[in-house]
Amino acid sequence: MEITNVMEYKAIAKQKLPKMVYDYYASGAEDQWTLKENREAFSRILFRPRILIDVSRIDMATTVLGFKISMPIMIAPTAMQKMAHPEGEYATARAASAAGTIMTLSSWATSSVEEVASTGPGIRFFQLYVYKDRNVVAQLVRRAERAGFKAIALTVDTPRLGRREADIKNRFTLPPFLTLKNFEGLDLGRMDGTNDSGLASYVAGQIDRSLSWKDVKWLQTITSMPILVKGVLTAEDSKNSLFVILCSFFFFFFFFKKSIHVILFFNLTNPARLAIQNGAAGIIVSNHGARQLDYVPATITALEEVVRAARGQVPVFLDGGVRRGTDVFKALALGASGVFIGRPVVFSLAAEGEAGVRRVLQMLRDEFELTMALSGCTSLKEITRSHIVTEADLHRPVSRL
Ligand code: FNR
Repeated sequence: MEITNVMEYKAIAKQKLPKMVYDYYASGAEDQWTLKENREAFSRILFRPRILIDVSRIDMATTVLGFKISMPIMIAPTAMQKMAHPEGEYATARAASAAGTIMTLSSWATSSVEEVASTGPGIRFFQLYVYKDRNVVAQLVRRAERAGFKAIALTVDTPRLGRREADIKNRFTLPPFLTLKNFEGLDLGRMDGTNDSGLASYVAGQIDRSLSWKDVKWLQTITSMPILVKGVLTAEDSKNSLFVILCSFFFFFFFFKKSIHVILFFNLTNPARLAIQNGAAGIIVSNHGARQLDYVPATITALEEVVRAARGQVPVFLDGGVRRGTDVFKALALGASGVFIGRPVVFSLAAEGEAGVRRVLQMLRDEFELTMALSGCTSLKEITRSHIVTEADLHRPVSRL
């Protein structure tokens, strides 16, 4: 049967994959309220399309941290992709590169940073989990940088693993023929089976629960890659992100004297803007695909608060429940600079390998282009807040005509 939208891959993946693997990919935390809400919140946002605008040419290209991509749709880090397909992360990397967009490689990939780099050219970000052993982190970050990765997506919502009950029931663990490839040489590549979730035990053993803003600063001293903070859901944290990012930039330029004239320029203009122009950092509004704290709001609901707090000083991205081109448009209308997709990648990988991921990216691209055309927008900057209406808008007092 002809596949006509991204969501159809989920059922195919369910048929093809072992239950333990499918459940790991599909499930969310506890009651899975946020999992459902990540989708439903999109459906409560409606359009206010403009008409009689020449939409014969639509430009979806954009720039992320200074890198030009073909569309504002990127690939989120999802762990252990070789459980979905033997080509795993290689297939995803090739598909992203063919679509002219960014792939984010998970720390817990079943292919190493070097292996993914060897698949060919492409703009790639590296998602980082901070291990208790900082030597492990420093080594890994340097390897990613050497392999040509362009930014770090630092995941900040996982001091402990969320309670994913399907994984506990299935006693989820990485199949014995696979390893967490980035950690193989460090003796941390295996996941032991336990009598609940093997991944939760691995996280409890290795991941640093004490991670705090000072570590974000530390990270900037060991790499010149820009850092995206992944997992922000509130204005309070987005302000903190900005503060740390700015401090780090001053630190970086003063101590490494990379560019004296940049420091002077800093004093004359808005430092945050300069930080952005220099590819400093950004924020990813994410609830980890509803796999961490249940009953947090949908990311599309939290987005506007974070965008407001960021005041245009750093780009804000979103992931969580993006399945349609209309979702991409809604996120951009609420101020996102781009979106990332997670599950559609692993489900399409399971169904059709690289061809599946290519198709997912193409379908989202086509749908997004159509949404732009039917809304009367010919470029991303023409997408505005007034092209949509949210529930919050309906509850706001309206001025009398
Ligand atoms: C994830 N996510 C994730 N995030 C991260 O920072 N590091 C990781 O290794 C993983 N691994 C992972 C595995 C699987 C199977 C899923 C579904 C998710 C979260 C991911 O980056 C992203 O935030 C969400 O997947 C986005 O939501 P959607 O698109 O899956 O709804």
